[in-house]
Amino acid sequence: MASVEHTNGEDVAGGGEVRRRDFINIAAVSFAGVGAVAVVLPLIDQMNPSADVLALASTEVDLSAIQPGQAIKTTFRAQPLFVRHLTDKEIAEADKVDPSTLRDPQTLEERTVDGKKQWLITMGVCTHLGCVPLGAGEGENRGEYGGYFCPCHGSSYDTAARIRKGPAPKNLEVPKFSFTSDTAILVG
Ligand code: FES
Repeated sequence: MASVEHTNGEDVAGGGEVRRRDFINIAAVSFAGVGAVAVVLPLIDQMNPSADVLALASTEVDLSAIQPGQAIKTTFRAQPLFVRHLTDKEIAEADKVDPSTLRDPQTLEERTVDGKKQWLITMGVCTHLGCVPLGAGEGENRGEYGGYFCPCHGSSYDTAARIRKGPAPKNLEVPKFSFTSDTAILVG
């Protein structure tokens, strides 16, 4: 009888010991798990772009108020962006130039969206040393080729914003953009 009670007592005691150890292990693992999540979440959070960065990633521009011959200056990713509504005359001037004679050969067609050649969207950053050219603001000097003129060292761009004279090596950059309606574009 005594040995049976003893055996039962050992089993109970042994089982209790195992259960206690399991609990300690599980508690330790759970704690480690919570610790890992607590460490990982802030890291993931830091890697996600913040709302203001996402807002800067693309720019929507309403074209409805920009009349032929006018341009506006806005910003895209913290840099100047020119949006210009070309007149038929400006389109004709750009089209009559043989692109093979240009420093950075491109046609107006290649720099605009199919069927919307009148909308010239470019960065407002001179490709020489990065000044902001004139020509997008009302009454500003557009230079001898009628597009944009960089006052820093005298680069002149034509009505397709292609470099025609002065030290700039390239045409004004055309950013990636698409029409979201007949009168709106999304740049970026
Ligand atoms: S920065 Fe425009 S011409 Fe030099």
